[in-house]
Amino acid sequence: MNPASPPTKQRRWFDYDTHTLTSSDGASSATSSAWATVPPPLPPDMRDHYRERIKALLQRENAVLVAHYYVDADLQDLARETGGCVGDSLEMARFGRDHEAATIVVAGVRFMGETARILSPEKRILMPDLGATCSLDLGCPAEDFRAFRAQHPDRTVVVYANTSAAVKAQADWVVTSSVGLDIVASLHARGEKILWAPDRHLGSYIQRETGADMVLWQGSCLVHNEFKGFELEGLRQEYPHAKVLAHPESPDSVVSQADVVGSTTRLIQAATELDATHFIVATDLGILHEMRMRAPGKTFLAAPTAGNSAACKSCAFCPWMAMNGLAGVAAALEQGSGEITLDPALAQAARLPIARMLDFAATRQARVQASGDLEHDTELYSHVGAA
Ligand code: 13P
Ligand code: SF4
Repeated sequence: MNPASPPTKQRRWFDYDTHTLTSSDGASSATSSAWATVPPPLPPDMRDHYRERIKALLQRENAVLVAHYYVDADLQDLARETGGCVGDSLEMARFGRDHEAATIVVAGVRFMGETARILSPEKRILMPDLGATCSLDLGCPAEDFRAFRAQHPDRTVVVYANTSAAVKAQADWVVTSSVGLDIVASLHARGEKILWAPDRHLGSYIQRETGADMVLWQGSCLVHNEFKGFELEGLRQEYPHAKVLAHPESPDSVVSQADVVGSTTRLIQAATELDATHFIVATDLGILHEMRMRAPGKTFLAAPTAGNSAACKSCAFCPWMAMNGLAGVAAALEQGSGEITLDPALAQAARLPIARMLDFAATRQARVQASGDLEHDTELYSHVGAA
């Protein structure tokens, strides 16, 4: 099966206990694993072996490890211990662009590796497994997106970072969950109408919050789309003092119950800062590693998903993030495998909308440091360069 085109009727569930993907229509996990092969858990001595080996290889190759909060805890720890970065997609992009290493190893999903490639054409970008994609990226093919855009020529094109370089190259702006709301608010403030892709939940959240005129592509994340509002209400009744932290890729029924909605970094910050002992977390549970480290003693509960059924088991783990393992990182550094390559013209076209986002984020950060208040910072919006 071609990893780029999974059959649309099948839904896949990643079982974290057995490390297999199973289709809800009963197709075998062997078929599914053709497009998401998850490394098996390693015994402790092998983990130690790989950790030491990777540390030595990072030095030998003048390389740095950049990891997302959803990947294997060992990789997050290694990135931190070796002077790399663990972050959300915006921070990963920024860190990779600014770091002086000749090689960046991206432990995350493909769009994160491509963003690093786009921002650092002179560096070598490696990934533990190039098959680690994203359902949002898969659900927004560049040619279909071109046709969608052509139907709305009067709209400013804002594209979520979870897309291919070929989609980004068609955008006026690329955004991540940490800056999407502010960027759309700024575009709305100057009267622009938005064409948004691909995540419909994040798009409708931004639409509600900003009042912007937005036409939405109807994509979704196969992990966050599974969180259930009704079951969440039940869990909140059991834990009435718990705070709900939700990633905005979750459905409206979940986001509307959340105390904090934001990027992975924002949710970790909330878990650390809020004065509560219990948190219900609606995002990939790989994030709990960082939350537990930063907020020891607090209790984190997984927001309910569809749960178990006869044919499948849904869980809040991204199957593609789970493809990143210690052995893959070691192999990439040792053999140069998993190198991200992009057509230079395509990379250049995709760079401009990403650079706009990074400029906006830098301005926003400077202003937060200066005033500490973004909510009423209408001047920030006037700093948005024309697309
Ligand atoms: P963040 O940018 O918030 O880390 O989100 C990336 C992602 O893929 C969430 O599913
Ligand atoms: Fe994509 Fe969802 Fe995985 Fe994030 S969690 S990388 S949006 S499939």
